[in-house]
Amino acid sequence: MRAAVADRPGPLDEVVTVRTVEAPAPPGPTELTLRILATTVNPSDAVTVSGAYASRTTFPLVPGFEGVGVVEAVGAAVVAGTAGTGGDLVGRRVLPLGGPGCWQQRRTVDRSWCVPVPDDLDTRTACFSYINPLTASLMVAQYCAGARSVVVTAATSAIAGHLAELLTEQTGQTGQTGQTGQTRLRPVGLVRGTPGSTVADPDRWKSLVSTADPDWRAQLRSATSGGADVVLDCIGGPVGPDLVDALAPGGTLVLYGLLSGEPLPAECFDGRRGTRVDMFRLRDTVHSHPRPGLANLFTPVFDLQRRGLLRTPVAAETGLSGLPEALRLQAPRGPRHSGGGFGRGKLLIDPWA
Ligand SMILES: NC(=O)c1ccc[n+]([C@@H]2O[C@H](COP(=O)([O-])OP(=O)(O)OC[C@H]3O[C@@H](n4cnc5c(N)ncnc54)[C@H](OP(=O)(O)O)[C@@H]3O)[C@@H](O)[C@H]2O)c1
Repeated sequence: MRAAVADRPGPLDEVVTVRTVEAPAPPGPTELTLRILATTVNPSDAVTVSGAYASRTTFPLVPGFEGVGVVEAVGAAVVAGTAGTGGDLVGRRVLPLGGPGCWQQRRTVDRSWCVPVPDDLDTRTACFSYINPLTASLMVAQYCAGARSVVVTAATSAIAGHLAELLTEQTGQTGQTGQTGQTRLRPVGLVRGTPGSTVADPDRWKSLVSTADPDWRAQLRSATSGGADVVLDCIGGPVGPDLVDALAPGGTLVLYGLLSGEPLPAECFDGRRGTRVDMFRLRDTVHSHPRPGLANLFTPVFDLQRRGLLRTPVAAETGLSGLPEALRLQAPRGPRHSGGGFGRGKLLIDPWA
């Protein structure tokens, strides 16, 4: 079978090649063999292949944290659910969680890491259900309930679009009254002012502030009416102290990415005015969650996706053999760690094309 393999740590566009590899052995007792139907590229793939997590990454590595597979074979001890047998799973689509490995035609995964895809959700949508929608859903639930003012950085990113949808769909304590009569919380978005780059749905944002404007700090203060309860930040680096200053007393900066490639300066953690900095990593939540309950985490995501929300536009499509070229095409648009540089939307990979 064919697989995209990173033989050594480095930038995706330099180290990933496609070649023929051995098909997986028959599944072990608790495993499923999946035929991968669709997969994609996220910043987390770029960060992992860069070698950032050396202690838990071994090369050669088949990247791909996100994808949909259809069950082809089940191990002898696999039970589908309370009523079913393992055989009932054959032909079902699942999201394989727990680690990379979707950039190949088949993979074997422990049953406990596989979340069934609802039958009424198409594969193109479900392919993007995990990394960004689940992270956004978990962060909004954990940090934004009751918040009056939320700032989201990298507002043009795919996950920021999901955050804006989730925040405006939840009923806030204050904010603009929506058509339904419920109060809506619209976030303030921070962008870096890349020409031609816009947010997915401008109506979901209270205002957008560009760090390219010299007076962006004052604009942010005004847009948050003096201070944000929560800043959801995936940039890190030098703007960190300004973001902590943009918090209301007692506010929280949630750091969930490092698109700048630099950590937050130490001064961000000094607790000034009762503020705090929390790190959010999807991996930590997923790996510490009881495996039988993993599917429940997806319930709000799938519900919203059925309503047409939390969907990721497909910016480009490729077969596995075209993947190295596609990675090269997206590479020049940003720093190595930014990933996903086809304009708005993600790359959809068909491992069989
Ligand atoms: N912690 C977790 O568990 C978790 C889970 C999911 C995602 N994330 C993180 O969320 C972030 C966004 O992911 P995504 O898939 O939504 O990305 P994406 O759709 O590829 O968008 C990234 C966007 O961020 C902007 N950007 C890149 N570098 C920047 C910089 N140095 N300063 C300011 N803006 C910058 C760019 O916007 P412009 O081109 O418009 O400037 C770029 O289009 C990544 O850091 C990812 O690792 C973390």
